Amino acid sequence: MPFPDGLADFRSDTVTRPTPAMLEAMASAPLGDDVYHDDPTVNLLEEESAEATGKESAIFVPTGTMGNQLSIMYHTSPGEEILANGASHLRSIEAGAAQALSGVAFRTVERPGGQIHPEDVDDAMETSGFFPRISLMTWENTHNLSGGKVIPFEVMEATSARARSHRLAIHIDGARIWNVTAATDIDGPAWGALSDTIQFCFSKGLGAPVGSIVCGPADTIDEIRYLRERMGGAMRQAGVIAAAARIGLAERARLVEDHVLAQKLALGFAERFPGSIAADEVDTNLVLVDFAKLGYTWDEVAARLLAANIRVNPPLKGNWRIVTHRDVDDSDVERLFAALS
Ligand SMILES: Cc1ncc(COP(=O)(O)O)c(C=O)c1O
Repeated sequence: MPFPDGLADFRSDTVTRPTPAMLEAMASAPLGDDVYHDDPTVNLLEEESAEATGKESAIFVPTGTMGNQLSIMYHTSPGEEILANGASHLRSIEAGAAQALSGVAFRTVERPGGQIHPEDVDDAMETSGFFPRISLMTWENTHNLSGGKVIPFEVMEATSARARSHRLAIHIDGARIWNVTAATDIDGPAWGALSDTIQFCFSKGLGAPVGSIVCGPADTIDEIRYLRERMGGAMRQAGVIAAAARIGLAERARLVEDHVLAQKLALGFAERFPGSIAADEVDTNLVLVDFAKLGYTWDEVAARLLAANIRVNPPLKGNWRIVTHRDVDDSDVERLFAALS
């Protein structure tokens, strides 16, 4: 559904605006004080999210960052390390929160696509004595910085088993986990079983205006509820936003449409700007284009797109990320190519 003002916004799937059905549900949601567990809409969202990920319980939080950071706080103690892919959102794009709030450092694995392999876990755990303890391993699927890549199930299964054999806790940053299920046909509980806690966002491709959730065992979620209070993340009549989140979750199967549109974009770039992208490398809704292959300067592209009422982010380290979501469509993709031709 393109924006009524004609803007085509390809910067992120976070730019989606609530649908009319979401706005209606927000206006009529039964409400209560969630700190007393009294908000029926939040309670339903937590039950539905726990079920969708195959977990016992869940807790609604304001942002994905808070969901990740509360999970880190729960799983670690100050001075410990987290084993993570070096290009993880929770390490590098959350303003140093893990270091500042939980007092932890990162032991990083540098592999493409956000992957970590079983031998990386063995390698990291080979230390003892006065080396910092590693207590947690984290995944991010889909993997944002590599362009929405899906970490294959077999890789996560094998590596999570190895991490568990070393008694590591496991957290999944599943900000876009429903893009993973849409791309693989492997369901939420199967992915959820590869971790202790899993966080996902309603405010990205699911299209809700606000909110994320952490799912896990009941006693873990109880403790995270305590930590959420500490961090000022406890909300009151949060059913107002949970109502929209419930609709986004119920409609999650539609994310395949964003993937089809991303393929159209990728094929369009491959055809018009040879070498700028390998279309078969695009797994989900994030499209990474090698900007240098376009033959334009960024100022030229920015001016053309501005004139066409199209918004994009500038390239980052040569990669130009273009994102599809429920508020852009085929005609917006055609407008983008027309502006670039
Ligand atoms: C992979 C990933 N994790 C976590 C987050 C954080 O979500 P939020 O912006 O809701 O804090 C994002 C946001 O872009 C993300 O892409």
